[in-house]
This record gives sequence, C-alpha cells and structure tokens, in this order.
Amino acid sequence: MAENKKTATLSFDGKTFELPMMSPVLGPDVIDIRRLYADGDIFTFDPGFTSTASCESDITFIDGEKGELLYRGYPIDQLAEKSHYLEVCYLLLYGELPSADELDDFESRVTNHTMVHEQMHNFFRGFRRDAHPMATMVGVVGAMSAFYHDSTDINDPYQREVASIRMIAKLPTIAAMAYKYSIGQPFVYPRNDLDYASNFLRMCFAVPAEDYEVNPILSRAMDRIFTLHADHEQNASTSTVRLAGSSGANPFACIAAGIACLWGPAHGGANEAALSMLREIGTVDNIPEYVRRAKDKDDPFRLMGFGHRVYKNFDPRAKVMKESADEVLGLLGIENNPTLQVAKELERIALEDEYFVSKKLYPNVDFYSGIILDAMGFSTSMFTPIFALSRTVGWIAQWKEMIGDPTQKIGRPRQLYIGAANRDYIDVESR
Ligand code: SDX
Repeated sequence: MAENKKTATLSFDGKTFELPMMSPVLGPDVIDIRRLYADGDIFTFDPGFTSTASCESDITFIDGEKGELLYRGYPIDQLAEKSHYLEVCYLLLYGELPSADELDDFESRVTNHTMVHEQMHNFFRGFRRDAHPMATMVGVVGAMSAFYHDSTDINDPYQREVASIRMIAKLPTIAAMAYKYSIGQPFVYPRNDLDYASNFLRMCFAVPAEDYEVNPILSRAMDRIFTLHADHEQNASTSTVRLAGSSGANPFACIAAGIACLWGPAHGGANEAALSMLREIGTVDNIPEYVRRAKDKDDPFRLMGFGHRVYKNFDPRAKVMKESADEVLGLLGIENNPTLQVAKELERIALEDEYFVSKKLYPNVDFYSGIILDAMGFSTSMFTPIFALSRTVGWIAQWKEMIGDPTQKIGRPRQLYIGAANRDYIDVESR
C-alpha cells in the first residue's frame, strides 16, 4: 500500500488527533486508526464493517459502483471466457498467470491429490442420510485435520502448501460424496484422466451400473461456475476464515469455518433460496405480488439473488452467469425452461421498479446460477456445496496472505457496551 503524507484530523472533547492515511492501488483511501484506542482511549463503531478495511490485500478487487471484479488485476469476464478454473486457482494462489509448464505441474499436483483417506468413508456413515450436504461438508472438512495431521503446522510453508493443494483437490470429492450419501448411491472415486470439472460431474452423476460420459457443454459450464465463485475480497465467509486463521487454527478448521458461514441464506445459501423462490413464484403472472412483498418493510420476504453489500451496479458475475444460462439451456434444448423465463421477467420488472432502482439492487451471482445447476441435474441442496468448493481456493489464498502478513495479529474487535453497570450479587431470598 502506498503511504501518503495526507492525514485525517479528528477532534473531540478538546483533543485533536492527526491520523495517517494510506492510498491503495485501486479503491478509496483509508484512515489508519490502529493507534486510536491506545492514544485516544476511544473506539470507532462500524457494525457489519461497511466502512472498515480489515486488511491489506493484493488478491481481488471489487468496484461496486462500476460493477467490476478483478482477480489479481484480471477482469472476471475475461477469465471466465478465456481461462479455466485450475489456471484461476494458480493465479489466485501465486499472483501471476502460469507458464504452460507451471500450469501442467500445478494441475498434476491437484489431480494426484483428489482421493480422500479411505477411512473417511466411515466418517460419512456417521451422518443421517437426509443430512444437508453442507452439514456434511462442514463436518468432514473440519475432520480433515484428523486425517491429514502432517499438514497442519501453519508455520511451515511446505505444510501450508500441501494443505492448500489437498483442499483444492479434495473438496470436489468430498462435495460429491456428500451428495451421493444423501441420495443413497455409492461413492464414485475420482479419475486422473478427467479435468477438474468433468471429474466432479462424474463423481456426482455416475453409477456403477453403467458407463458415464461427461457432456462437454456441462463440464465447460461447471468450470465457468467454479471460476465465477473463486474469490470475492473480504466477504463474510472469507473474513471468517481470516479471523479463524488469526488465532493460529489449522487450515482445515479455518476452511470448515468458512463453509459454515457461507451456508447462510444472506450469503452463499442464496443460490438455493433463489431457485426455491423462482419455483415458488412459478409463473410470470405471480411476479407482481412477490415484488410487492419484497418492497414491504413489514414482510421479511426479500428477492433472493438480488442486492449486494458491495455491488450497487450489476454484479459482473451475474452477467456472465445469465449468458451461460442462455447458452447451456439452449444447447440442452430447454431454452423455454419456465424458471428461466420467470427469472428474466422478474429481473426486467425489478430493474424498472423505483424501489430497486433507488436502492441500487441488481441481480447478484446467485440469481442465475441455480437455474444452470438445476438444468445440469443438481438438487438445490447441492448449490451451496458447489459454491463452497469453488470458493475454497479464494479462502486459502486469503488465509495464506494473512498468515504471511508480518503485521497480522489475532483478530479481536471491541464493542459499544450498553449493558448493566457494575452491581452487587443479590441472594435468591432477596430477589
Ligand atoms: C453473496 O459479500 C460478498 O461478496 C458476498 C458474495 C460473495 O461472492 O462472497 O457476493 C456472495 O453472498 C451474494 C449475496 C447473496 N444474498 C442474497 O441474494 C440474499 C438477498 N439479498 C439481501 O439479503 C441483501 O441484499 C444482502 C444481504 C446481499 C445485502 O444486504 P444489505 O447490505 O443490508 O443490503 P443494503 O444495505 O444494500 O440494502 C439497502 C436496502 C435496504 O432497505 P432499507 O433499509 O434501505 O429500506 O435494500 C433493501 C434493504 O432492506 N434490500 C432488499 C434486498 N436487498 C436489500 N430488499 C428486497 N430484496 C432484496 N434482495
């Protein structure tokens, strides 16, 4: 970050502080308040951290006003069109696009770590069959520290690298196993002769009773969905991973914490909620009633897949996802899919409605993704697990950056205490 000579003046109670300011490569300047409590005995107050930069990072940049998303400086639409997920993983982890040899080596390392410890199969059997795959993933990924204890020392760069490759490689296998377990089908082992997305599709949809041919249209769409979800700056689940990692917790525990946070319907759980909402709306005739409810302050209903904490313009991922939905459903011969028609009409109506326009609410990454995943044959309960396996590389890249930051400390926000002041205990007889 570029230090600058600008300072911010803060005056209160007859005291004045000159706070240093710093300028980023992109985005707003920041006021460095790290000394404020020590020097001024005062906190800042920012629930939800809407005005707070929690760290320095050079991984991902979002411009909410422009609707721009950059991975290490490369625009998401270019990467979605020209790159592929494992190359994007390399970019996010190491900061530059790989040479052909670097890419081959990286893909080989990932491919050769896709199997899980055979004993983990028994771990799955401890869950009820009807457990949500996200519940299974939180448990199994957290348990990886019990199976891969030789890559849990966060102070050893080699172990950090091994744990990173293991998670990127094994998350699709674990997600597919969670799916197979939930539908009562046998686990399907990964294959080293398939690319990352094709391997995942085969592990989810192949059965021992017959051969399974991966549809190249679906594997390309799957790979693009992985890329679109790979990282997103300091969102709730990434901040969870960073905070867990700041205590020195092992990498598997940190990623399990990120999966747990992502599950929330306001975050990664929105893709499952968005498709359920579109199905509940059912036909375009019902859209006005749901738009009315979304605008009603007394109604908790929100348009799932709409709005964003940062984007106050189109989410660039939603644009690519919408194009992909048209392409995939067209190629599958289901372009008249009623859910897609409802989604497009809902988007059109909402984007012309004063409420959504004034509040700058646009479709986000979760609005169209469920339509593609549904067309590919996934149950809605698999939508967020797919988001989680895609985002694992982003969580890992951000965790490695935090671990490698010499200034990083254990995260410890303070509070504005509004509870009871000091008071003496009262015996129960006197209450
Ligand atoms: C993800 O942070 C990330 O980067 C997340 C993510 C990532 O890649 O990691 O992008 C992934 O989580 C995408 C978001 C998925 N969530 C949803 O689609 C759920 C529906 N959306 C909302 O719940 C909401 O928009 C949030 C949670 C996403 C943002 O919440 P905010 O920050 O409170 O929204 P806001 O401050 O911009 O809201 C402004 C106004 C508010 O009304 P007022 O209080 O001003 O009267 O718009 C309203 C909100 O009530 N509003 C909505 C709405 N979203 C916001 N009203 C109806 N429907 C909605 N979807």
